[in-house]
Amino acid sequence: MAINKTLAWQKLNFHALGRKTVPFNLRKAFAQDPTRATQMSVRTEHIYYDYSRQLVTPTTMQLLFGLAQRAGLGLKINAMFSGVKINTTEQRAVLHTALRQQTDESVVVDGVNVIPEVKAVLAKIKAFSEKVLSGEWKGVTGKPIKNIVAIGIGGSYLGPEYLAEACKAYAKPGMNLRFVANVDSADFANKIQDLNPEETMCVIVSKTFTTAETMKNAETARDWMMSKLGDKPEVISKHFVAVSTATEKVNAFGIDPANMFGFWDWVGGRYSATSAVGGVPLSLFLGYDKFEEILKGAYWMDQHFRKTAPEKNIPIISALIDIWNINFLGHRIRALLPYSQAAAKLPAHTQQVEMESNGKRVDLLGEIASFATGEVVFGEPGTNGQHSFYQLIHQGMVVPADFIGFISSLTNMGKNSATSVSHQMELNCNFLAQPDALAFGQENSEPHKFFPGNRPSSSLLLEQLDPFTAGALLALTEHRTAVKGFIWGINSFDQWGVQLGKVLGVDMRNRMLKYFAGDGIDTAGLNSSTATMLEAVLTGKLPR
Ligand code: F6P
Repeated sequence: MAINKTLAWQKLNFHALGRKTVPFNLRKAFAQDPTRATQMSVRTEHIYYDYSRQLVTPTTMQLLFGLAQRAGLGLKINAMFSGVKINTTEQRAVLHTALRQQTDESVVVDGVNVIPEVKAVLAKIKAFSEKVLSGEWKGVTGKPIKNIVAIGIGGSYLGPEYLAEACKAYAKPGMNLRFVANVDSADFANKIQDLNPEETMCVIVSKTFTTAETMKNAETARDWMMSKLGDKPEVISKHFVAVSTATEKVNAFGIDPANMFGFWDWVGGRYSATSAVGGVPLSLFLGYDKFEEILKGAYWMDQHFRKTAPEKNIPIISALIDIWNINFLGHRIRALLPYSQAAAKLPAHTQQVEMESNGKRVDLLGEIASFATGEVVFGEPGTNGQHSFYQLIHQGMVVPADFIGFISSLTNMGKNSATSVSHQMELNCNFLAQPDALAFGQENSEPHKFFPGNRPSSSLLLEQLDPFTAGALLALTEHRTAVKGFIWGINSFDQWGVQLGKVLGVDMRNRMLKYFAGDGIDTAGLNSSTATMLEAVLTGKLPR
């Protein structure tokens, strides 16, 4: 039965309707219950999660937990962890959690325990990164490698980039890591302009090794290297490695499978940051021990998710609150606001995880979902966002927000005294103030200075952003997304919605190839809009 037909959902609907007669007000809720923050928060060893500024009461939470139970959430979480093929449209298990498992407990897919394979790839990454970082691995001219260019897009880029930025303060001195994702050659050109190819290694990251943008950038990288270092196989063997599931394609590109780091079809692209996808570039940048810390942080969150009761489970509560905001209060946009420059890339990564996973039209049975699934996630690090779009979230539309703060920072500058505070304290003044401004607003007789308040937000507070906590936040993002998909009854692990655009792109490329072969402009079957612009792109003249 579709989840919105269940009694648990109807009860929530009724509860939300009740808000129309007796409006819920955060100011009153805090005044009436001085223990509200204690009741509506989760304390763990590594993360403090406070959802007391959400538009929920204890009854709302009870009803949401009832919904989770009705959806069979516990069974679905167990099925994911134990390797059941829950990605039904692709007949695949969903086992990113196996990538960071810290025990030897078996996880079996198609009769094979995957844990030894995971450990073997990790050992290969460790040995390889140690060779490179110690200078034992040299480029063709005998120089050690100090620049890493990771070429990949989507899930083969966003998670690793978030982790690299988050852990930058822990990087090996002298090592540079750059990411090239966009097929716009400006991306490649900008990233390599100051790099010496003799000291550079390209890591081609693509699960399928067919993604058009990545293959184009990989070919350009190969041409660049060969034009500088010579057209010889050693240039590839010393300066190129691959992360992929497609051994034959990697081989055809010219990369020796010995220099390939594998993963498996049970790791979805956007869930792959803790596989070799993140492991290779991050170990080369930070050292393998730091990548291991990322895995430990993710594993810690996996255990919290798997073993903690829903009432104290951060991924479950945050996902249920999202469902409350999306399906019952009608807020389908969420702002993700990390108060940390190092976490600047978390919103972009979360965008892919949430929107590619849960932006679905049909449920697991193929029926059109008759309720909202998915949400738009956007964000910027604090305080930059405050000087950009916060006007809208304070006085314009209601946008539930997630604030993420850190008590300290490795890169903090300045001192705290009676006359001035450090950068980190300054940042945290804002981290503390903004949720209150949203929640409690401000009376004013001048309409433009009136803040309505009652705007929902949650706050996550951590000690500091380091490899461990960066990994924990990554896993939190993954599990929060999965919980919503489990409750909505959709497949959060496929992405058929990106296929049509790719197919039409191939059609356009074929028309271009025909034109460059001298066969004229083929607009057959195209609508007038696309035909006009194709003609402009090919002839280099704007339509006039
Ligand atoms: O855009 C669709 C997508 O398939 C993503 O899901 C994936 O992360 C990305 O493309 C890159 O794919 P690949 O790793 O195969 O190059």
